Amino acid sequence: MSGAASPAAARAALPSALQSLRGRDLLSSADLSAAETTALLQLAADLKTGQRRIDLGGRVLGLIFSKASTRTRVSFTVAMARLGGQTIDLNPQVSQVGRGEPVADTARVLSRYVDALAIRTFGQQELADYAHWASIPVINALTDLEHPCQALADYQTMAETLGGNDPAALRGLTLTYLGDGNNVAHSLMLTGAQLGVNVRIGCPEGYAPDAAVLRRSQQLAAEQGCHVTVLHEPLAAVRGAHALYTDVWASMGQEDEKNERERAFAGWCLNEELIAEADSRAIVLHCLPAYRGLEISAGAMEGPSSRIFDQAENRLHAQQALLAALLA
Ligand code: CP
Ligand code: NVA
Repeated sequence: MSGAASPAAARAALPSALQSLRGRDLLSSADLSAAETTALLQLAADLKTGQRRIDLGGRVLGLIFSKASTRTRVSFTVAMARLGGQTIDLNPQVSQVGRGEPVADTARVLSRYVDALAIRTFGQQELADYAHWASIPVINALTDLEHPCQALADYQTMAETLGGNDPAALRGLTLTYLGDGNNVAHSLMLTGAQLGVNVRIGCPEGYAPDAAVLRRSQQLAAEQGCHVTVLHEPLAAVRGAHALYTDVWASMGQEDEKNERERAFAGWCLNEELIAEADSRAIVLHCLPAYRGLEISAGAMEGPSSRIFDQAENRLHAQQALLAALLA
């Protein structure tokens, strides 16, 4: 382990509810308990407002990204810099991973150099394999199944706009996600359930979330006294909601299905007409990148309800909180 500055200082500054996260992996949003999720959002808010500062002392995060990224890559890099550490870009195309070096070897070797890995890839199993072989925390930076870091920033944004920066104030509010039941939807369901948020997924038939993720999020929701539901009618899905969220209809790896999906999702654009059916305080969210005129209208993106760029900023604060908790 590297570390010139005092890790003890970082520990002292970390809320006690987050001590349990030290050294852990974040492969799924469901890996975090309700208490840990809430405490992470609180820490993210405190880091954003400057009420708390954490110095991890020279720690190094490796980034292994097999898919494109702007926000996740840059926000992890800046988050580590703000925590007094740094990142190394281990792009598979320029490492031996691209030539077929096995995960079992790569993960064990990298564990001798860096303090954590953030991995963006296709299959959840590949991420799980890295976590199995690595002796350092492994973070899901997006897989086909989940995007846990995104969901933390999303609910942080909802809490700061609708809950006076208190994650506990999200209990009983409703977030509607319109569109494909994809990785982003899955993490919103799991994290929302842990926070007591009612999560509605509005999607055309055939594009519902994964059945196992739905079951798990409904179990978590039952424990927290909220609901996760799937609806197939856009108006019913958005009615009275406090946050309206959408994402691309064709995710990375589904480029071949773009045209077919555009036909299937006709009528599912998040636009001003749908916003008018939501709660009067409702905010509009999108993980980005966005395609104006497809899943979201230009007016919804740029309108007064949009918190999309605050949401993008919060990736930085939420991931800083996460890294502090895993590495302190
Ligand atoms: N929202 C998100 O993860 O963006 P990037 O693909 O740019 O990282
Ligand atoms: N669902 C999208 C999210 C991009 C941040 C994708 O996986 O491509």
